[in-house]
Amino acid sequence: MSIRPPAEAYEKVPTVIFPDSAKAAKTLAQEVKQLIETKNKAGKPAVLGMATGSTPVPFYRELIRLHKEEGLSFKNVITFNLDEYYGLSSDHPESYSMFMAEQLFDHIDIPKANINLPSGTVPGDQVFNHCRQYEEKIEASGGIDLQILGIGRTGHIGFNEPGSSRDSLTRRITLDRVTRQDAASDFRGEQNVPHFAITMGVGTILRAKKLVLMAWGENKAVMVAKAVEGPMTEVISASFLQDHPDARFFIDHGASRELTRVKLPWLVGPASWTPRETRRAMVWQAFKIKRPILKLVDEHYNENGLSDLLSEQGPAYQLNIRIFNQLQHTITGWPGGKPDEDDTYRPERARPYPKRCLVFSPEPQDAITGMGGTIDRLVEQGHDVRLIALTSGSLRVPDSEADKFAETLLELASNATNPTTWEPQVAYAREALGLLEAKGEFGEDPPLLRQLKGLILRGELRDAAHTVGLANDRVTFVDLPFYENGRYRRFKSTEEDHKVLVRLLQEHKPHQIYITGDAADPSSVAGICFRLLVAALQSCGGEDFAGSCSVWLYRGKERPLEPHEIDMAIPMSPLQIERKANALSRYGALSSLEKEAPETNRENARLYDALGLAEYEAIETFQRWRRV
Ligand code: F6R
Repeated sequence: MSIRPPAEAYEKVPTVIFPDSAKAAKTLAQEVKQLIETKNKAGKPAVLGMATGSTPVPFYRELIRLHKEEGLSFKNVITFNLDEYYGLSSDHPESYSMFMAEQLFDHIDIPKANINLPSGTVPGDQVFNHCRQYEEKIEASGGIDLQILGIGRTGHIGFNEPGSSRDSLTRRITLDRVTRQDAASDFRGEQNVPHFAITMGVGTILRAKKLVLMAWGENKAVMVAKAVEGPMTEVISASFLQDHPDARFFIDHGASRELTRVKLPWLVGPASWTPRETRRAMVWQAFKIKRPILKLVDEHYNENGLSDLLSEQGPAYQLNIRIFNQLQHTITGWPGGKPDEDDTYRPERARPYPKRCLVFSPEPQDAITGMGGTIDRLVEQGHDVRLIALTSGSLRVPDSEADKFAETLLELASNATNPTTWEPQVAYAREALGLLEAKGEFGEDPPLLRQLKGLILRGELRDAAHTVGLANDRVTFVDLPFYENGRYRRFKSTEEDHKVLVRLLQEHKPHQIYITGDAADPSSVAGICFRLLVAALQSCGGEDFAGSCSVWLYRGKERPLEPHEIDMAIPMSPLQIERKANALSRYGALSSLEKEAPETNRENARLYDALGLAEYEAIETFQRWRRV
């Protein structure tokens, strides 16, 4: 066997892959605890560099726990935050100053005087001085002992957008379009996201004695791989961590998926040729050399580093046929199983038939985006399908929609033949308009506005569900409480959420469940809903249905499944894909990614075709959830 380079040959920064963000957060929090204790014993303050965003939230929760339950004191800790939006005052709900107070500082015993963030309101002509003073203050405190970092979709650390130089210092920068899009849900629309920020520079960050960059979920995977394995470049400021003697990446499985050791493990060391790894290697090879699976020959295997796969599982043609058949068997027009047919090689079992199917949609648009065509088929094939919108989704509805709705109500009332019967509606609409005015652009929605926005989405979902065959009484709205208390990326689920899901499962005793979010950022709505469902299934473990029910994972906003990951592929006719596009058009506030769903389905079909399988118009894809 050939000697292969170890993972380190690819990875230029030490990278630890944790089972999940909670475990990584615990490890890092322990390090911080030790750092604080060691420094304090030496009579010195510990100086921590802080980050904001969804990534450090589990870490901050663990620090709070250490403070409350294990007496870790922050009295002798000084903090410097990486950045602040320029133009936002410190009491703006989306300012990083407010974020830090809510997520950490208000819950620990750090003295206010020890907290440092760049100011978002320093006048333009004083920005330069302010930034210089921030640098000086870091120096005067003895320098940052440990800097916490996240990574943005542009590869930024802090807000060092592409183009930031290795030696850049604290300064005002213009936010990248992608970064502003990512913050759009926090600010209720991209148009409200500030254009500027003040950020520590790459040079400032690299002066910290130790650095830990955390990243969770598949959305971060591409950037993590580029930063860890790619060249050091100003295009990806996180890549400059390669230039630091004590920088590490702490990531979860999702964020690791583009690293060579995870994606192409056979290039890094002896691979264990499980069925899925074999499939992955074959699909990779076929795409790389642009040949369908059945046309791969010995030379291709050898030239692509797969000679040991060939010697273990060859000859080539047998192996090709085996994998081709596996892929072929993922295709079915019967997502709920085909009754009275041999189901040995079918993704779903034939019996029971019809099945009780629960389709969970974390936000109201997810299920139609991810599996509208499949819902259509399930209904057509006589299954008992119920679509469950887990959260109200109200945060994604812009104020203008609520305003429009209230105004329409008023207009209807003013045209009514008997206006007195409309009085309650008029009062409701007036109250809504008053609340909209009072809260301003960024204020939190009071319950009535949340309700109104939620109702708008309910209408959209019912309408969309109709186009894929579901009547109103097949759509259930549960408005999980975690969503109603939160702001985007700061949600925290509780026992109440858990109970709602357990009750739903016990009530419906499904044979099949569909859900998305397994691969999402764990702090996203879909990520939280997925974990809640897993926990609820575990709680129902003793019941018959829970053991036998199959759980299928679809893709909502996450990246599409790759062919080797697909366990069930549901072809769509040209008419069905049109119906799906039509269903999606019923939603007022779809992101550009969500609007692309039909195109993603078409691309799935092109990939299957390129592997030598049948050529369909479009395909929706699913992965079987494997219980752990
Ligand atoms: C935040 C910061 C940014 C974020 C990055 C990731 O202070 O400096 O670099 O760490 O944008 O954001 P999240 O964690 O929200 O994905």
